[in-house]
Amino acid sequence: MASSLLCSITARALILLLLYLASMSTNLAAKHNHHGYRRHRSRNRSPTSNQRLHQAYVALQAWKRVIYSDPSNFTSNWVGPDVCSYRGVYCTASLDDPKIRVVAGVDLNSADIAGFLPIELGLLTDLALIHLNSNRFCGIIPQTLANLSLLYELDLSNNRFVGPFPSPVLCLPVLKFLDLRYNEFEGPVPPQLFQKEIDAIFINNNRFSSAVPAILNGTSASVIVIANNKFEGCLPPSIANFADTLEELLLINTSLTGCLPPEVGYLYKLTVLDVSQNKIVGPIPYSLSGLAHLEQLNLAHNLMTGSVPEGVCILPSLANFTFSYNFFCEEEGICMNLTSKGIKYDDRRNCLPEKPFQRSQKECNDTLEHPVDCFEQHCVASAAGGVSGSSTLFAPALVPAATPLLSPSMAPSFT
Ligand SMILES: *[C@@H]1O[C@H](CO)[C@@H](O)[C@H](O)[C@H]1NC(C)=O
Ligand SMILES: *[C@@H]1O[C@H](CO)[C@@H](O)[C@H](O)[C@H]1NC(C)=O
Ligand SMILES: *[C@@H]1O[C@H](CO)[C@@H](O)[C@H](O)[C@H]1NC(C)=O
Ligand SMILES: *[C@@H]1O[C@H](CO)[C@@H](O)[C@H](O)[C@H]1NC(C)=O
Ligand SMILES: *[C@@H]1O[C@H](CO)[C@@H](O)[C@H](O)[C@H]1NC(C)=O
Ligand SMILES: *[C@@H]1O[C@H](CO)[C@@H](O)[C@H](O)[C@H]1NC(C)=O
Ligand SMILES: *[C@@H]1O[C@H](CO)[C@@H](O)[C@H](O)[C@H]1NC(C)=O
Repeated sequence: MASSLLCSITARALILLLLYLASMSTNLAAKHNHHGYRRHRSRNRSPTSNQRLHQAYVALQAWKRVIYSDPSNFTSNWVGPDVCSYRGVYCTASLDDPKIRVVAGVDLNSADIAGFLPIELGLLTDLALIHLNSNRFCGIIPQTLANLSLLYELDLSNNRFVGPFPSPVLCLPVLKFLDLRYNEFEGPVPPQLFQKEIDAIFINNNRFSSAVPAILNGTSASVIVIANNKFEGCLPPSIANFADTLEELLLINTSLTGCLPPEVGYLYKLTVLDVSQNKIVGPIPYSLSGLAHLEQLNLAHNLMTGSVPEGVCILPSLANFTFSYNFFCEEEGICMNLTSKGIKYDDRRNCLPEKPFQRSQKECNDTLEHPVDCFEQHCVASAAGGVSGSSTLFAPALVPAATPLLSPSMAPSFT
């Protein structure tokens, strides 16, 4: 399942992948060929350069000047005008003029570099890829990033970037892969992000505070991960707009409130649904019994009530059903004995009579005395893009299951 998802992503990235591999091999060849002669070449000797490589030289030197710590000397050969020989810098033939070489990729993954991104980044107009996973870059993303009209993959994950959602990202016309995980971005996530023709969006583990759900219709994303942010509010029915693409929805620890809308049951491709560690109230929607591909269902650590419906317990692919730390008071039919179906489960700390490790009678009584009416407090996305009901909104997430997206170091970039 995870691999088919990755395949579909990768298929769309194939052209880029080929470009990238071609650029790596030409670059390696170039490095190899130039090795002997570079040693004797004077720094000022006119390089086999062109205007665009010169622009890249200006940009990379400006970047090097705002690198304050480079413990593995990753950028120590960023010297002189031959930028294509710089470590982590990849050149290829220009798309508009194959006779011209240009800088198409910068890959500093795991270099542990501390520094800033300079405004001169906007001079690297031929970049298709930026990979900066697991460094210590800080500050804000310069507005000049918007100049990179060929940028296809932007991976800024696991750094120390701050500030609002980097708006230049919204101007990048061919961006397909955006990874902002594990930074300190804050404030709202602009709805325009979901209107882009983008394949994968990872914004989990930041300090984003809301994401306006209204325009959930625009998305073509097959992967969206928004876990561990401070979203508040409910999951709107418009989550159903993801039905044709969404395979994994991870909304862990995003301060979700309100009831789960029945529309979650329309996400017929879902294999993983994890809404654990929120403040979701009300019952399990019976529509979940339509999720024929669902393998993992995690509702733990919420305030859910009612009974655990048999329709969910008999889902054909269900392998792990975790609903501990809620206030469920009844299990229908086979739900009482999931072991007999070979389903891994956790039902602790509920209000289930005759099950061990349940909440106290008092705790259960207190909660059950205040029943929730999900019809009354439904979550509606307004035309203006706001959400009424419990306030803001959602956070879908979709992850190749085996990938540790909730851990910072792994960069799931296409290339
Ligand atoms: C990096 O360069 C400095 C100065 O040349 C040197 O002292 C240090 O050992 C180098 N570090 C590594 C990891 O090569
Ligand atoms: C944007 O790119 C153009 C070349 O395409 C360059 O002339 C210009 O200086 C760049 N702007 C910024 C702000 O970097
Ligand atoms: C999304 O919905 C808005 C408002 O209903 C509409 O204007 C827009 O065209 C839709 N976008 C897509 C991609 O369908
Ligand atoms: C939940 O998310 C918040 C940030 O919104 C974070 O501070 C906290 O550590 C997360 N909790 C867990 C258990 O990961
Ligand atoms: C079942 O899922 C829960 C929540 O994701 C996880 O903590 C647990 O380890 C899983 N159990 C098994 C046996 O895979
Ligand atoms: C659950 O089902 C298994 C096998 O069908 C059976 O052996 C076991 O006694 C049942 N457990 C309970 C608590 O009913
Ligand atoms: C909980 O409610 C039940 C039924 O209303 C009642 O019999 C029981 O005494 C209550 N228990 C506590 C601890 O309040």
